[in-house]
Amino acid sequence: MLIVLLALAATADGQAFDDYEMASDEAEAAYDVLEAINGSVPWRTLHPDNLCLFGPHGLNCDIDENNVLHVVEFNFGWVAESDNNAQCNRNATISASLMKLPYLKKLLFYNCFTEEQIEIPSVIWSLGASLQHLVFMRNSALVGQLSGELAKLSQLERLVLMDNGLEGPIPPEIGRLTKLSQLVLSGNKLTGSIPDAIGSLQLLKLLDLNANRLQGGIPAAISQLSKLEKLDLSSNALTNGIPSQLGSLTSLQLLDLSHNNLTGCIPESLGSMNQVRIIQLSSNNFSGDVPNSIWLNLTHLVGLGLSNAGLEGMIPPSLGELPHLNYLDLSNNKLAGTIPFTLGHLLHVYQINLSHNDLFGLLPFSAEFVSKMGRNLLLRGNRGLCLGSDWPLLPKGFATEGLATCNNEYWASNIVQQPFPLTHILSGSSHVSQSAIVMPMSLIGLVFL
Ligand SMILES: *[C@@H]1O[C@H](CO)[C@@H](O)[C@H](O)[C@H]1NC(C)=O
Ligand SMILES: *[C@@H]1O[C@H](CO)[C@@H](O)[C@H](O)[C@H]1NC(C)=O
Ligand SMILES: *[C@@H]1O[C@H](CO)[C@@H](O)[C@H](O)[C@H]1NC(C)=O
Ligand SMILES: *[C@@H]1O[C@H](CO)[C@@H](O)[C@H](O)[C@H]1NC(C)=O
Ligand SMILES: *[C@@H]1O[C@H](CO)[C@@H](O)[C@H](O)[C@H]1NC(C)=O
Ligand SMILES: *[C@@H]1O[C@H](CO)[C@@H](O)[C@H](O)[C@H]1NC(C)=O
Repeated sequence: MLIVLLALAATADGQAFDDYEMASDEAEAAYDVLEAINGSVPWRTLHPDNLCLFGPHGLNCDIDENNVLHVVEFNFGWVAESDNNAQCNRNATISASLMKLPYLKKLLFYNCFTEEQIEIPSVIWSLGASLQHLVFMRNSALVGQLSGELAKLSQLERLVLMDNGLEGPIPPEIGRLTKLSQLVLSGNKLTGSIPDAIGSLQLLKLLDLNANRLQGGIPAAISQLSKLEKLDLSSNALTNGIPSQLGSLTSLQLLDLSHNNLTGCIPESLGSMNQVRIIQLSSNNFSGDVPNSIWLNLTHLVGLGLSNAGLEGMIPPSLGELPHLNYLDLSNNKLAGTIPFTLGHLLHVYQINLSHNDLFGLLPFSAEFVSKMGRNLLLRGNRGLCLGSDWPLLPKGFATEGLATCNNEYWASNIVQQPFPLTHILSGSSHVSQSAIVMPMSLIGLVFL
């Protein structure tokens, strides 16, 4: 049974721990690793004694039942200004002596390999069965391929290889890492298709393959990941339709499939993802309508991005009944017909972008709603939209700028439009809720990291 010593070592003066020896072969291995990372630091002179008690930041140990200390955590590079982990030299390498740290649970390299290219060494895949967290972040000079050997890291819970220079396919052996709860391979140059074997990672909560060069279809096997909360496959070159089976991901909070080459219709089955907060499907090549019936269940939806997605038909009025919707982007499609007045009832909405469609007819919003939205209501590029004749003058840059007055009596008599006198708006006696959480789509994603 290992006992965490970190807090004690950090607060005590160390004398009390003289009894606790560090395994000497581990000490040697730790010096090797430090020297490979930054050989210009005289590690052995700076830290001559027990590295576990008097070592550099980023190296942490646990104590075993025989009072022997073991290295369990090694972090390199500054993640935040406040931590003082060993910094990597421009010619830093990864020492094979890492293999001599059999108790290592957590290994992190942040912003470490950024100048001289190095291949991800095979020693990484041989780090043994105690490794639980392996993190390489922002190492643009770290190249090479993921090896099928990674299956040997059988206790791995977090595999985060984000914003490096890794290439080649995702090996199907990844499906053997059945303890994984986070798999993040975003921001590399990975190619090939997403292996079906990912469907075996039953504990996975986060799957992020964003910003690679992945091709082929989205495997239906992903729908077996019943604990999945965040699925981000955006900015790849994925093709084919969204598998309807994805609807069974009822724990999902974020679905981002934007910036791919997906085709077909938006499946009705997405309506069963009843925990989902963000659906981002923009910049794809879908066909068909924005489905109308699926929104009723999605009461947690905060952001919906369907811009530049090849969609046609009318804007479904049911979108206006999403109680927490904050962000709606339907821009740059072929949507036709009138704007449903229900959108003007969205209490928490921050931004609505309907620009560059074929929408027409009387703007069905109150002047108060338009003025509250300000520059976050975007209607440009819809030639047929117009305003009632009693519409007040709003400042430049508002959605109404450039819209003609409807000259057809038809609109005035058929659609309820509720203009308020400008004085009312400027006096600030608004009864529309101002409590909207101001949160653009780009920030919403961060909530999950
Ligand atoms: C190596 O470590 C030394 C001492 O901590 C530091 O001054 C130096 O900046 C490091 N090298 C690099 C390239 O960061
Ligand atoms: C790495 O670079 C440092 C200077 O930045 C130099 O002193 C050292 O010899 C280099 N090590 C190797 C192995 O090239
Ligand atoms: C999407 O697919 C079309 C047709 O197969 C192809 O011409 C286009 O280059 C693809 N676009 C991307 C971004 O992959
Ligand atoms: C709403 O969710 C339930 C399961 O939670 C599902 O059976 C039903 O089909 C969903 N309705 C729609 C319209 O998707
Ligand atoms: C979209 O799909 C159509 C066929 O459905 C194809 O002709 C077109 O090239 C695709 N466009 C892009 C940008 O992929
Ligand atoms: C609204 O949509 C258009 C077309 O997709 C886009 O160019 C514009 O940047 C969007 N506006 C905002 C504020 O997001």
